[in-house]
Amino acid sequence: MNKQALLINKETELKIEELISQMTLDEKIGQLNQVGPSPIGDMGISKEELDTMLETGLIGPSTYEKILAGEPWYNDEIDIKKGRIGAFLAVRDLKKINMYQKIAVEESRLGIPLMFGYDVIHGYRTIFPTPLGESCSWDEAVFEETARISAKEAAANGIHWTFAPMVDISRDARWGRIAESPGEDTYLACRFAEARVRGFQGENLSDPDRLLACAKHFVAYGACEAGRDYNQADMSMQTLWETYMPPFEAATKEGVATFMGAFNDINGVPCTTNPYLYNTVLREKWGFNGAVVSDAGAIQECLMHGNVADREDAARQALNAGMEIDMVSRCYMNHIPDLIKSGKVTMETLDEAVRRVLRLKFAAGLFEHPYVDPELGPKMYLCKEHRAASRNAAKRSIVLLKNNGVLPLKKTLNIAIVGPAADDGSNMNGCWGALWKEGEAVSLAQGFKNRGINVKVAACCDYTEKGLDIDALNEAIKDADLVIAAVGEHIEMSGEAHSRAYIGLCGSQNQMLDEIKKANKPLVTILFNGRPLAVPNVQEISDAVVEAWQLGSEAGNAICDVLFGDYNPSGRLTTTFPNDSGECPRYYNHTNTGRPRGAVRHTCKHEDVPLKPLYPFGFGLSYTEYEYSDLSAVVDNGVVTATVKVKNTGKVAGEETVQLYVNDVLASRVRPVRELKGFKKVWLEAGEEKTVTVEVKVCDLGFYDVQMNYVVEPGEFKLWMGHDSECELVTSFEIQ
Ligand code: GLC
Repeated sequence: MNKQALLINKETELKIEELISQMTLDEKIGQLNQVGPSPIGDMGISKEELDTMLETGLIGPSTYEKILAGEPWYNDEIDIKKGRIGAFLAVRDLKKINMYQKIAVEESRLGIPLMFGYDVIHGYRTIFPTPLGESCSWDEAVFEETARISAKEAAANGIHWTFAPMVDISRDARWGRIAESPGEDTYLACRFAEARVRGFQGENLSDPDRLLACAKHFVAYGACEAGRDYNQADMSMQTLWETYMPPFEAATKEGVATFMGAFNDINGVPCTTNPYLYNTVLREKWGFNGAVVSDAGAIQECLMHGNVADREDAARQALNAGMEIDMVSRCYMNHIPDLIKSGKVTMETLDEAVRRVLRLKFAAGLFEHPYVDPELGPKMYLCKEHRAASRNAAKRSIVLLKNNGVLPLKKTLNIAIVGPAADDGSNMNGCWGALWKEGEAVSLAQGFKNRGINVKVAACCDYTEKGLDIDALNEAIKDADLVIAAVGEHIEMSGEAHSRAYIGLCGSQNQMLDEIKKANKPLVTILFNGRPLAVPNVQEISDAVVEAWQLGSEAGNAICDVLFGDYNPSGRLTTTFPNDSGECPRYYNHTNTGRPRGAVRHTCKHEDVPLKPLYPFGFGLSYTEYEYSDLSAVVDNGVVTATVKVKNTGKVAGEETVQLYVNDVLASRVRPVRELKGFKKVWLEAGEEKTVTVEVKVCDLGFYDVQMNYVVEPGEFKLWMGHDSECELVTSFEIQ
C-alpha cells in the first residue's frame, strides 16, 4: 500500500471541487502551465538557439521578433493575475517569489497560490556530495538527512517542489547524468529513492520546511544508447521492469508526490506522450495519486521526436497520456482551448489534471502559508549543523581504491598538492549544486590549512589542452616527502548534456602524473569527478588512490578526515569503473552468456583490456581488514535468512558494509551472474567479530518470464555475502 503523501481528505476534496466549478477554461489550463522566470528562464537564450526555435516551429515569427528585440514575449505578472500560470521553474529570488505569490493570492480572481519548483538535487545553499558520490555511503540515514536539510534550506527560500530524487539506473559511465544517479544497481537505487522521498517530504507534506519530491526521469533515461544524453532507449519489457522500473515503484510506495517524464523515447514512444507510463503503470497499476510534470520543454520536443503533427497534437497526446503539468513549453496554454473545443481533449480529462495539481497545493499547505519570511534562510544556510551534516555525508562517500600503506598520512610529512583540483573549492559543488557561492566550499588545500598543516600548492595544469606548467610542478614537488595529485573532471564535464566519449583524465593531467612518477616521489592521487573514470594509469603509478567525487561544501575537511585517519574510509562503489571508455556500458549484474568472460580467446570480452573492471561494483578499501566466515542461508516461511560472521582483523575500528548477492542458477530466462539483494552496515572495533544477518523475501527473487509474468521459479540459488560484488564466500539454498 502506498504511503499517502497527498492526504486525500473529504474537506480538501470539497474545496477542490468548489474551485474547479468556478474556474474558467483559461484558469484551469493555467494550473497546468509551469513557466520559466523570464524569457526561456534566467539562463536566457542565444541567437542560434532562437533561430533553431523558429526553424523548428517552437516559436512563431512574431514571438521571434519580440525576443530578438529584447521585448518580453509574455508578461508573468499579467499572466499570474489572469490565473494563466500555476507554477514557476527556477525562480531563485525570494523577493520575486513573494511578489509573484502576492499577485496570485491577493490579486487573481480565485487566489490560487503558485508552486515554485527547482532542482534541489544535492543541497541548496549547503551543498552535499553528488548523488553518485553519496550513494557510495550505502547509508540510508545519510540519504534522508541530506535531503531533509536541502528541503529546509530550499523551503526557506520559497521553493515548494524539488525535481528530485533522480533514480535513473545508470550503467554507462559516458553519460554525464550518471553523476546525478544512485548508480547501476536497482536494489540500492530503491533504498536511495525511499530515503530521499522521506527526507524531502517528511511525514507531513504541509510542514513549511519540506518539499514536494519528484521521482525522475520516468523512465529508462539512463539507458540512452551509447551514453549519449537524450538518446533513444530500447530494451525488452523484461529488462525495463526488472532493472529500470523498481526505483520508481519504490518512490511511489514511499508516497512521492510527483513524477517527471523523461526526455527519451522508450521502445519508440516518447515518454512525454506515453499513456502506458502514466495512465496504465502509474495510476492503474501503482495507484499513484500525485501529478506528473514534463521535463523542460519536452512536450514541444515531441515535434523533434516525430510522433506529433504539431504543438497542438503534442499537447493533446501528452495530456491524454496523463501528463498534468507542462514545463515551460506553453503548449498547454496555447493549444488546450482548441483541443477542448474540438473534443480532442475532454473537460473531464482537463478537470482531473487540475484536480491533481490543486491536490498538490493543498497537501503542500500553500493555501495556509503562501509566503516565506525572508529572515529565515540566511540564518540556516551553511550553519554549523548543516556543514557538519555535509562533512559527515562527504567522508562516508569517499572510496579508498588503492593504498600500499602510504595512508593514513603522517602530520610531519612535507606535502605538495598539485593538479587542477588542488585548491578549487567551487569544483567541489558538483553538477547540480543549487545556489552555492564562490568561496563557500572547502577546497582540498583549504582542508589542510584548516588543520594547520602547511602544504605547497600548485595547479600546474587545468582540464584543457592548455598544457602542463612543468616548472611550477618541479618547484612545488622538489622538497616534498609526498605528492598529492588532485585530478579528475571539472563540474561542467558531467551532469546534463555532458556525455563524453573518452572518460580518462583529460588535458595534461596524465602527463603531470608521469612527471611526478619520474621524480620518484610517493604519490597519492585523489579523484574529483562526477562519473566513473577509466584511469588504469592512475591505479598503476599511484601509491594510493582516493575517490573523492564532488563532495560539496565540506569536501576538503572530509577528505583530510580520511587522509589523516580520523575517519576510516567506508565508502563502497555503486558503479563499476571500466578500464577504458570503449568498454562502456560495463556493470556487475550482467548475464553469463554461453562464453563467459575468460582467459581463452573465444569468450565474451574485449581483447585489448583486462578481464576484470578497473574497480568493481561494491568495492572500497579500509584502513583495516575484514574477514568473513560461517556463511549460511535458510529458507522459511517465504524468507531467506542469511547469516555470516565478520571479523575486523586489523588494528583500527571501522564500518563494514556487508553485501548480499544471489544468483538464480537455473531459470527459464537467463539471470544475472549476481544481483545485490541486501546489505547491512556494521561497526567493528579492531579484533571484534560479529554475526550479521540479512533477510531476503523469496518474492524478491523473481523475474519476468517470456510472457511477462513475474515469477519465482523453484530451484537452486547461490548466495554470497562479503565485501564487494566479487566476494567469494558462497552458499546455496533451494526454493521449492
Ligand atoms: C532539465 C532536466 C531535469 C530538470 C529540469 C528542470 O532539463 O532534464 O532533470 O529537473 O530540466 O531544470
